[in-house]
Amino acid sequence: MRTCSRFFCILSIVLTLGCDLSGQISERPPCGQDLWEAKLMLSSIQRPRQNESLASQQRSQLIIPVVVHVVWRTWDENITDKLIVAQLEALNRDFNAENQDLGQVPYEFQDRIAKIGISFCLAAKTPTGQPTNGIVRVKTYVEEAGSTDSLFFDSTGGSSAWDTERYLNIWVANTGKYFSGYGTYPGLTPPNTTGVIINPKYFGLNEHSKYGLGRTLVHETGHYFGLKHVWASDPLCEADDEIEDTPKQKNPHFGCPDYPQSSCTESDMFMNFMDYVDDPCMCMFTRGQKEKIWASIETLRPALLNNTVEYYCILSTLNKGFDFTLSPNPATNSLTIRFSEQEGGLKEVQIFDLLGRLRMRISTLVNLIFKLEINDLEPGMYVIKVDGRAQIFIKA
Ligand code: ARG
Ligand code: ZN
Ligand code: CA
Repeated sequence: MRTCSRFFCILSIVLTLGCDLSGQISERPPCGQDLWEAKLMLSSIQRPRQNESLASQQRSQLIIPVVVHVVWRTWDENITDKLIVAQLEALNRDFNAENQDLGQVPYEFQDRIAKIGISFCLAAKTPTGQPTNGIVRVKTYVEEAGSTDSLFFDSTGGSSAWDTERYLNIWVANTGKYFSGYGTYPGLTPPNTTGVIINPKYFGLNEHSKYGLGRTLVHETGHYFGLKHVWASDPLCEADDEIEDTPKQKNPHFGCPDYPQSSCTESDMFMNFMDYVDDPCMCMFTRGQKEKIWASIETLRPALLNNTVEYYCILSTLNKGFDFTLSPNPATNSLTIRFSEQEGGLKEVQIFDLLGRLRMRISTLVNLIFKLEINDLEPGMYVIKVDGRAQIFIKA
């Protein structure tokens, strides 16, 4: 072999610079971002320049509607509504410095901690104005759909983006063993492939000691808003992450390092969300990163600032006086539950037969309307309970 192609050169450099090839979740986080950047470098798109000064203005909380595309092949990839809600709560916690573990930030960095002031909610309306719970589920036959561009289109076994100027699109799909996810940098990808891609193994809250706190999504969402890794892989310590208040750092940190660590004369800020440490050991964004995020939004994702209220969130708090109606009743294949105005949230739906036996149980995120498949029930009379409120229906 005379020369390798440029693509594979970049790929192999990237892979030897601190990637984990075993792909085991218990080892180092595989670096999807680097692979994705290498791919981007090849397509040689110019990165637009950003004006950072705009962002220093104080802003009120921005709410970004999110659509989660669950593109699954095996059942364990078809993650639950409940897990999605928990993951978004974790994202909101970390983007607003409400995480309880900020106390582990060393004294020297404490005054750099930033509350980004952005929250994320599951979209309550589709791009055409239909009610939704912000979750799209697609069963795919594509293996490792998350590592291919077929992920982004209905026609190729994926799920097509919702207007990426107004929604944050998150695709949860098997990305294979080489990376856990990536976030597309602002202005660098075609609109219909813009957003965050994440492997279901790293999504949401779970028992995993290294990646169980939902921080892979926090990290990838940082990339989506233009943040780079805090280290720059420069042995001369000249390159940096273009953020003033993050110290220069040569290489990523893994696991849970003891404090202090240093690589470019200063102390490394390895507890930053944009390093590669384990979830329990990353906990902060800086003020400089906050400025960068807001500058990216204002210059490259401005439509996110003008979202109209109807695209906003499903109410996650329960409306005490909620009511629901059932139709059709009797029903044959599916039963539609319609909630009173503005009712939504994670609801526990249970169906009992007349002997009081629990026949179905679903914990689901509802927004005004919810369709329940009842094919598996025998004809007869049933009691349906939604968060404790009961009604009777007949299966024909
Ligand atoms: N694979 C991710 C990326 O390169 C980083 C993983 C983040 N680390 C974590 N502890 N969740 O974009
Ligand atoms: Zn990354
Ligand atoms: Ca820096």
